[in-house]
Amino acid sequence: MAGRIPQYFIDDLVARADIVDVVGSAVKLKKSGRNWHGLCPFHNEKTPSFTVSQDKQFYHCFGCGAHGNAIGFLMEHDGLGYVEAIEDLAKQMGMDIPRDENPVEAKKRQAAKKSAETLELATQFYRNSLQVAEGHQRAQAYLQHRGLKPETVERFGIGYAPDDWELLKKYLVGQNISEKEQISLGLLVQKEETGRTYDRFRNRIMFPIRDWRGKVIAFGGRVLGDEKPKYLNSPETPVFQKGKELYGLYEAKTSPGQLERLLVVEGYMDVVALAEAGIPYAVATLGTSATSEHMERLFKVVPEVVFCFDGDKAGERAAQRALENVLPHMIDGRQARFMFLPEGQDPDSLVRANGKNLFEQRIVRADSLSEYLFRFLQQGLNPQEPEGKALLTQKAMPFFQKIPKGILRTLLIKKLAELVGVNDSDLQGQIESRPEPVVREPVQSQPADIIPEYAAETEIQADSEPEVKLSTSYAYKLLVWMVRCPDVCQALSADEHQQLKAIIDENKGFFWGKVFDQVLEYLKCTPGVTTSSLQAHWYGTETGRLLDQIALEEVLAEEFIVSEFKEWLRSLELKRREYQHDQRFDELTRKSRSGQKLTKNENEELVMLLNLLAKKKSQPEGDDAEVSQ
Ligand code: CTP
Ligand code: MN
Repeated sequence: MAGRIPQYFIDDLVARADIVDVVGSAVKLKKSGRNWHGLCPFHNEKTPSFTVSQDKQFYHCFGCGAHGNAIGFLMEHDGLGYVEAIEDLAKQMGMDIPRDENPVEAKKRQAAKKSAETLELATQFYRNSLQVAEGHQRAQAYLQHRGLKPETVERFGIGYAPDDWELLKKYLVGQNISEKEQISLGLLVQKEETGRTYDRFRNRIMFPIRDWRGKVIAFGGRVLGDEKPKYLNSPETPVFQKGKELYGLYEAKTSPGQLERLLVVEGYMDVVALAEAGIPYAVATLGTSATSEHMERLFKVVPEVVFCFDGDKAGERAAQRALENVLPHMIDGRQARFMFLPEGQDPDSLVRANGKNLFEQRIVRADSLSEYLFRFLQQGLNPQEPEGKALLTQKAMPFFQKIPKGILRTLLIKKLAELVGVNDSDLQGQIESRPEPVVREPVQSQPADIIPEYAAETEIQADSEPEVKLSTSYAYKLLVWMVRCPDVCQALSADEHQQLKAIIDENKGFFWGKVFDQVLEYLKCTPGVTTSSLQAHWYGTETGRLLDQIALEEVLAEEFIVSEFKEWLRSLELKRREYQHDQRFDELTRKSRSGQKLTKNENEELVMLLNLLAKKKSQPEGDDAEVSQ
């Protein structure tokens, strides 16, 4: 993306920003003694156990153990990524971020800037059209008929795309935005046969879709009447991925008052109508069911998420998918609940008919995760009979296993044990003894936890094919992901490719390391590869047999793989460098101790390594992966 942020800048930023200000803008702090105290924003408490140290520039909660520096606070509290948090803090401090970027990255950043400007111009164009364009009266009347007041229309930036084939195109071209740019953002469509271009959105109410910081990244457009399709959305573009974004999240986050929960609904109009009715905390997935990435986003903002579904078969299916996707995110302290509406109603129609209070009562009465989970598990079987009990247990296992270890998981197991009348430690034992699925809780999975054993690698024999060796290495997991999601190769930057290559080179002594190398080379020059085409390519060879095994391994959900792959790669790279530094340090000190004279360069290198090692030691536990990014 935007190029590396130089470490010196991050150090400088953290040194200049005062954690008391940063935390103080979100938490009421009182000074007593050397430290500041307040109610912890990360868990519910009545007496303050949250302290902020101005000297150490750290916060720590004695209640829940949350701790970190200013950047960490912004990440945890505001749900920002590492780079986002740095950007945010830099903005607060009025500092410009310098970027170590190569020409490719610089170009990408320019392009992103241009895209943002273009989408902003389009938003303004649609909003303005709602006031003045031909046909705007009808659009206004439609919004009024849907019960939206001008303030709500304003808040969501809702606009109108005029009934014309090229008004937007002409306007944007007049603003120096090329047609190519407009096509790449999905604003303009190009006919394949003739090459003719025309506006994608015509005679539609326009809903801008914003990212976490309020930048418009796409649009949804609704017809004014019954024409088809009812909603038209921007296609996926470099700045817009449906499975990640939530309509209304920015608006919810920035609504006045403390956000306690988020309500996940289906449609644009549901979000807007709920906000109009005084329920400003609804968000919508964009025509998909809630993905794991959505869950991660949601729980970064609030500890409680309520999923709202239609009371029909489709709603039931969507609820099941949401249930499966939310389980890996249920660390203790979080709540997910499930709410089903009467058939034929949606949140928009209900809140309009019954008003805010009755709707909020429904939210309060929504099923807890455990209620819904057990109801779902017991569907179609009789838990009174031994057979039904056995079936229920069997059905429950994979669900329970997805939940991170903790109180919730233990209690659910207990509940199941009571229901089927077995000893809960037996059940617990059974669940623990089954192999863990490889779905990890992403928020907890700080890459700092990953410590690959570079020196002492163990290899285990696979049961089925004795000559093919599986590995327990972390780098091996990258191979598995690459085989299962070959697209990941396209998603890597040049730097990441180099890092991957280095990691592979270090593992070429292993059979899987060689296979990794082969696969990577193959992917580089063959587009559109799938797992089975890899298996086919190496069919009948030893490599093929390893690929066959990999194809059967339990892996992360596909939508997760690319981001996880990059995280692990980064973490392995850090560890690899650290290991190299240690090695080199040992080598140089050995040489020096043995009485040999070090060259000038070697001396300088030793000083540099000493500094690095000292810095690492001085950094608080668990924070080094962040700071050395
Ligand atoms: N949707 C879509 N494309 C369609 C239909 C629906 O993307 N052709 C998505 C939209 O996000 C829409 C949601 O699915 O908001 C729900 O669709 P639906 O229930 O049909 O519409 P409503 O939200 O009820 O829309 P309205 O109240 O405006 O009729
Ligand atoms: Mn509706």
